[in-house]
Amino acid sequence: MFKSGIAVCSLGHCHPAVTAAVKTQVEKLVHVSNLYYTEPQTELAELLVENSFGDKVFMANSGAEVNEAAIKLARIASAEGRHEILTLAGSFHGRTLATLAATGQPKFHKGFEPLPQGFKHIAFEDLERLEKSISPATCAIMCEPLQGEGGVRPLGPDYLKKIRALCDQHDLLLIFDEIQTGMGRTGTLFAYQQLGIVPDIMTMAKALGNGLPIGALVTTNEVAGSFVPGTHGSTFGGNPVGAAAAVATMKVMLADGFLAGVQEKGDYLSRSLQNLVGQFPDFITEVRGLGLLKGLVMSEPGAERGTDIVNVLFDRGYLINFAGNVALRFAPPLTVSFDEIDELVGALTEVVADIFP
Ligand SMILES: Cc1ncc(COP(=O)(O)O)c(C=O)c1O
Repeated sequence: MFKSGIAVCSLGHCHPAVTAAVKTQVEKLVHVSNLYYTEPQTELAELLVENSFGDKVFMANSGAEVNEAAIKLARIASAEGRHEILTLAGSFHGRTLATLAATGQPKFHKGFEPLPQGFKHIAFEDLERLEKSISPATCAIMCEPLQGEGGVRPLGPDYLKKIRALCDQHDLLLIFDEIQTGMGRTGTLFAYQQLGIVPDIMTMAKALGNGLPIGALVTTNEVAGSFVPGTHGSTFGGNPVGAAAAVATMKVMLADGFLAGVQEKGDYLSRSLQNLVGQFPDFITEVRGLGLLKGLVMSEPGAERGTDIVNVLFDRGYLINFAGNVALRFAPPLTVSFDEIDELVGALTEVVADIFP
């Protein structure tokens, strides 16, 4: 209920507009080779271009797959010999070998070494280290505007502006992984749209098809020029059924008032959760996040019981999770009501009071 599986079913399960689009599409066409365009794919690409900085779109089936595409694109679009990508400690970019190597959390690497080379993880908010790590081999900086799996940790507009400036200064591409923050989750269609900077490459997946597997990468004409037919591809990428679901999902999200509503409910959720910080200051330290992606940050003694809070809430019918072993993560469907937020925060307050008497 407050997890959306995780940040996927943003319109709730089986939203009528998405269900209708999928039903219509499965009766028409479920697959065609990517040697050809399909109508839903074209419509989706147009919607993404009209509503982001992107000029061109590449489609795949999942988050990791579009991040792989971003990594390949950054390498091929850069001068020869430049292949290294800097990412941040605490980041999560996927579970294929290259996206795992990009992920700045060693716990996910264990047992899968040796990982592909060409990635350096830089401590969070250490701009000096980030700049010092740029070498003649560096081609890009890749980050999430808000680390989801890393504990709902926003990078902040100033930090992001400085990262953008470093990219401009050193002729690097900036890759934004908006797989979790994209598709209205933060109150704007993409998080970058409220953070005052624009990346060169951006990836999205999760909520794009409201539960159907589809991912997309958008980029500028200039960068996209390095991917020509045959450079990169995917048999099922942007398949007509997933694309039809994504078109229907986007149309709901782009309708008047929808994103403003996300922002309003996100602010309300923040204020409600803030009361818990006041009530349990020894265990809960902060509310952070954007829109309807919020984290309740636990102190060290609080974090020891984070999973217990998640489990007790599960027994009471509320789904949340404990991200990065540091924050309770709330990612309700964007259609959540104010009453449902009250119910969740009421139940959470009782559970926390029981666990930390
Ligand atoms: C920011 C981010 N990037 C990439 C991924 C990987 O996406 P997928 O599981 O669809 O491969 C995730 C999944 O949690 C994510 O949150």
